[in-house]
Amino acid sequence: MSMTSERDLAKAKAAGDPAIRFGNKQIHVGQMTIGPVLFLAPERARLSALQWQTFSVKRLGATVGAELHGIDITKPLTPTALAEVKQALAEYKVIFFRDQPLNADQHIAFAAQFGELELHPFLPGTDDKPELVRFAKSAEVGGYENAWHHDVTWREIPSMGAVLHAIQVPETGGDTLFCDMYAAYDGLSDEVKVQIENLEAEHDFMPSFGLRLTKEKQAEMRLQYPVVHHPLAPRHPVTGRRYLYVNQFFVTRIIGLTEQESEDLITFLTQQSTFLEYQCRFQWQKDSVAFWDNHAVQHYAASDYYPDIRIMERASIIGHRPTK
Ligand code: SIN
Repeated sequence: MSMTSERDLAKAKAAGDPAIRFGNKQIHVGQMTIGPVLFLAPERARLSALQWQTFSVKRLGATVGAELHGIDITKPLTPTALAEVKQALAEYKVIFFRDQPLNADQHIAFAAQFGELELHPFLPGTDDKPELVRFAKSAEVGGYENAWHHDVTWREIPSMGAVLHAIQVPETGGDTLFCDMYAAYDGLSDEVKVQIENLEAEHDFMPSFGLRLTKEKQAEMRLQYPVVHHPLAPRHPVTGRRYLYVNQFFVTRIIGLTEQESEDLITFLTQQSTFLEYQCRFQWQKDSVAFWDNHAVQHYAASDYYPDIRIMERASIIGHRPTK
């Protein structure tokens, strides 16, 4: 035991904290498991030690999310800054920038430094920029992005990441939450890790985007986007770490399981994103920008601002096929 923790323990004892008898162990009380989520500590400490030349960092969650300050993303990045932003994305899983008044061309140019941009077949682009998906919410159009998801997992090659720019934000609410899907995987028991190691899930656009289409259009889109299978626990191509890859919007079944087994496992695995300790929550301001790694995190756009206006634009970067 280190000097600090001995001192902390002595202090806690002196304070008469009734939790002293649990030490640092999690305990089960009825349906609840409470206590410190210890396995996050090494990653949290590792992230604390990182140093950067081209920006300073304010971290948000224990293992996920960081604001990058002192960098201007409205202009092309220098090679050093570009390399550091890529590295920061891999480390913090989602990165944020404040006060970046990007116009559409600058938004596209920033995202294009990280790869080719995706065209979304169901979400139309802005008038003259097909690469920019516009989410314009108001009293007429509510926000429906409030379920945990990775984007476009019904594609054979889902996007590697997305750059979301806040054009107009509501007076209160409209935050976006992000969940560290490495933590969601690491927090599973060894038995569940073994169980899912070789399993794949079916991903389909039909239960979400398909709902808005006519029967004819559904059939046409099905030909272009047949259901796809992705591993439940792929390895990230940059970090080599396994992450949990099951989401509420697009996963329809787990291959090789009975309907009931599949449903139970999907329910259990999708619940992992709801642990608050794995998350960070970002409060938008006009001209804030979020850049997320679409494998390492899932996101959830809180839909609590109706009937206010919230306008965001998103550029997505084409990625890789998830592999074990
Ligand atoms: C999305 O789901 O990509 C939109 C996120 C947001 O509007 O915050």
